[in-house]
Amino acid sequence: MVTFANDFFFGSATSSTQSEGAHTAEEKGQDIWDLWYEEEPFKFHDEIGPKDTSTFYKNYKSDIQLLKETGHNSFRTSISWSRLFPKGFGEVNQKAVTFYTSVFRELTANNITPFVNLFHFDMPVALQKIGGWENREVVEYYRVYAKTCFCLFGDVVKHWFTFNEPIVHVECGYLQGYHYPCKTDPKAAVQVAYHTALASALAIREYHQLKQGGKIGIVLNLTPAYPRSEHCADVKAARIAELFANKSFLDPSVKGTYDPELIELIRKHDLMPIYSSDDIAVIANNKVDFLGVNYYQPVRVCAKANMPNNEAPFMPTYYFDYYEMPGRKMNPYRGWEIYPRGIYDIAMNIRDNYGNIEWMITENGMGVENEERFRKDGRIEDDYRIEFYKDHLTWLAKGIAEGSNCIGYHVWTFIDCWSWLNAYKNRYGFVELDLKSQKRIIKKSGYWFKELTQNHGF
Ligand code: BG6
Repeated sequence: MVTFANDFFFGSATSSTQSEGAHTAEEKGQDIWDLWYEEEPFKFHDEIGPKDTSTFYKNYKSDIQLLKETGHNSFRTSISWSRLFPKGFGEVNQKAVTFYTSVFRELTANNITPFVNLFHFDMPVALQKIGGWENREVVEYYRVYAKTCFCLFGDVVKHWFTFNEPIVHVECGYLQGYHYPCKTDPKAAVQVAYHTALASALAIREYHQLKQGGKIGIVLNLTPAYPRSEHCADVKAARIAELFANKSFLDPSVKGTYDPELIELIRKHDLMPIYSSDDIAVIANNKVDFLGVNYYQPVRVCAKANMPNNEAPFMPTYYFDYYEMPGRKMNPYRGWEIYPRGIYDIAMNIRDNYGNIEWMITENGMGVENEERFRKDGRIEDDYRIEFYKDHLTWLAKGIAEGSNCIGYHVWTFIDCWSWLNAYKNRYGFVELDLKSQKRIIKKSGYWFKELTQNHGF
């Protein structure tokens, strides 16, 4: 049997934008997803935007009962910055206070520990208009927002995260054009990354000063980079891929420093951000108490086949090519490799190179298209998802047995959700959502998860 400690956190994660609905109601201000969908609805799968969700805002009480039915002892969601502060700062929206207070109390009343994240890709429009994370002022507004959350909800919430996957808004928003504001501006990307690390450290400082007796961390999507071969050029390519994708946030968050090799590369390409020594000291002195890790896929890289164009805008792929390993196992719907051993490698990396800090898996999951074809006697029999979880949990248990300090495993996600640009193309949930009728049916994996958590293993 694969077993876990009795107090191991088992649960799932979601985010405000992907679950709440009421996207511009109840005095919520617009976030960049609301705005972007208004401007360019064609960019979203089937033109479904952030207003079409599982309506957690309205149905949180019955959804929390479904969390219980599927065996959760913990659950992560995020606070919507623009719901709490419609303009990003200034006056607090009391309706948001009532809503989040009531959600967190309902969770704890049902013995479900809330893990609360402060930023999940959802910059308030009012602040994006003044430059978003490019602007140092926005870092200050974030600090105030974070402190306000701790003061309002910190009596109930004892596990906080400052950001979810900060590298995503850097890369997708400022290099690759996948997310709003869809820029390709490497200098801005570095500024945004640095400001985000600073914002996280400032929130950590605020939290520690309040002495509320809880923990604060950050959620990073760690994608271990594997070289094509042991050839030194491939190994170097993988090391550099890790620097940009993982170490860029892992090091400042856990160690309070940046890897000198990363700084050297940033300097070499003339991309150093505007910074102050006071702010660098804030990063150095305010490290996370624990770490959340989202793991979906590894990256495989090799030495570049062709010389990069020095005149092109800088991309990390200046130093490596992506490599498609023959025979790799794929999730064809999402286009992501499935490599359960990656979770063990992450566990070892954290144990050996990051002081064996306490950490947990904060997302792991498998989005599948057209799950309707797996319906039997009214219920979706998602055996592939159960197998996916079992494979990952097996490697995680091995990492824990070898001393890695992992305290929990959260899947993505509890109920089929709106998946940003993919909208409802791929379904991830333990619970099936009929978007039109809002009917919910627990899938086979939901019942399996309940057994898993009752037995502390499988
Ligand atoms: C993570 C995010 O990157 O992956 C989630 O934190 C997201 O918000 C999940 O939904 C799955 O990715 P996608 O693009 O399929 O929704």
